[in-house]
This record gives sequence, C-alpha cells and structure tokens, in this order.
Amino acid sequence: MLVSAKEMLTKAKEGHYAVGQFNINNLEWTKAILLTAQELNSPVILGVSEGAGKYMCGYKTVVGMVNGMLEELNITVPVALHLDHGSYEGAKACIEAGFSSIMFDGSHYPIDENIAKTKELVAIAESKGMSIEAEVGAIGGEEDGVVGSGEVADPDECKMIADLGVTMLAAGIGNIHGKYPENWAGLRFDVLDAIQQKTGKMPLVLHGGTGIPADMIKKAISLGVSKINVNTECQLAFADATRKYIEAGKDQQGKGFDPRKLLAPGFEAIKATVKEKMELFGSVNKA
Ligand code: 13P
Repeated sequence: MLVSAKEMLTKAKEGHYAVGQFNINNLEWTKAILLTAQELNSPVILGVSEGAGKYMCGYKTVVGMVNGMLEELNITVPVALHLDHGSYEGAKACIEAGFSSIMFDGSHYPIDENIAKTKELVAIAESKGMSIEAEVGAIGGEEDGVVGSGEVADPDECKMIADLGVTMLAAGIGNIHGKYPENWAGLRFDVLDAIQQKTGKMPLVLHGGTGIPADMIKKAISLGVSKINVNTECQLAFADATRKYIEAGKDQQGKGFDPRKLLAPGFEAIKATVKEKMELFGSVNKA
C-alpha cells in the first residue's frame, strides 16, 4: 500500500540520512526502483512529473501500475507516489487519482499567491492523510519545459511557507536540474544553514540530485536535507547501457531484439544507479 512521505521523512531528519525520490517514466523504471528499494530495505519516493504523467497515459494509469507492482512484487518497504513540480490543477488531479504525496511548485508565483495556493492544498492533503511539498526559490535548469533561473531561496520566505503546515520544503540553494555546468559555483551551504535554523524540524528537499558530488550531498544532509530528488542520472545510465547493447550489435543476434532483452541492460543500469544513491543517502536498512 502506498504511504504518505511524512513518517519516512520525519525519521530521516531525526536519523540524519535522506530518502531518495527517483522519477519514473515507464514500467521498467518503476520496477527497477521498487525492486532496488526492497533489496536494500530502504524507503523510497517515486516521483512523477506532469510530463511523465502524461507520457504514461495519465495519473490513474500510474496509480494502477504502481499499486499493482507493490502487490505482485511483494514490496513491503514504505513507498510514496509523489507528484513532482505539480501545478495547482495537477496537484488536485493527483489527489483524486490516488497519489499518496504531492508537490505544489508555486515558486514562480509572487510569495503571497504561493502562500494562498499552498495553504489551500495543505488543507486538502491533510484531510486525505497525504504529504505535501512546497517550494521557495526556483530550482535552476529546465525540467519538462519549466525553466528555473537558479534562484536562491530567502530563509524568511521559507519560514512563512513551512509554517503553513507543509510536510517538506524544497528551497533553491544554487541547485540545478540536469547536468551541472563546468563553472557551477556549488551549493549555498550558508543559505541552507540559515533555512534550517528558521524551519527547525521541517525535512528539507534537495532537487537536482544528478551530478552533485558525494561530499556536498553529505554536507547537505548534515544541514537538514532529508529528501533528495534524482531524475537525469537514471536517464543517462539507461541511455548509456542501451546504446552499448545496440552498438555491440546484440539486438541483431538471436532474439536480441525482444524488448525484454533489449531493455534489460538499461533496467539493470537504473538499479545500479538507485543502489549507489541509496547507499550515499544513508537510507539502506531504514525501511
Ligand atoms: P535531476 O534530473 O537533476 O536529478 O533533478 C531531479 C529533480 O530534482 C526532480 O524534481
């Protein structure tokens, strides 16, 4: 059964580790992430962007697929199904469809409007026992056509949004979706520290987990980050493994064209990436 992300993130914050949010795109992605979480006895959050939701036919299809896998793969570790960077309408649609967690990304609205919309969604999420993530200060880079400017959050605004009763808070601290440029200045640990001081026990969320060096991840966790989002890294690993299979001509040998064979190296590559991240984040055996 899907669970809200509240309990797993409260435990993570108290235990000084982070739970990974891994974004899903299809059956192979979902199965790879769920099996890895079960093998490592780790809690996990499946992230679905609005674009990925559309790609997978809609939120109801996603809910049906994930619930079916939980049962038929005998997944017993805590799993949350979370809308990633949701719009106000998208958040409402996912609540209806049976997600267990939502993110409302109102970071592009003026702070008053972000607060008003977040407040309304907090009340709905609360009444349904769901977790809700809000965002202050856009995350840099591009994801599904939403371009962030690499903004850094204002700790006072973080406090205002945290006080609305959200479960977890994403705050821009110089992080970027996708690959980091050569000249990236790194995470703003001074800002993260100030945010944690103002928001106390609130689990903080680090977006753009792809390509952040291990020492920065560890430092971010020590400063209150309890949820780390990873998307691009699984995509790169999948593409790389699939390219190698085809370049080696394996799809032309025997029944190598069978999708169950053709997609297997990419599937294994996602598993390896998720395992590496769960070990780095410290969530192994925390289910
Ligand atoms: P990356 O694609 O950079 O890993 O970011 C993922 C993310 O933050 C999803 O919200």
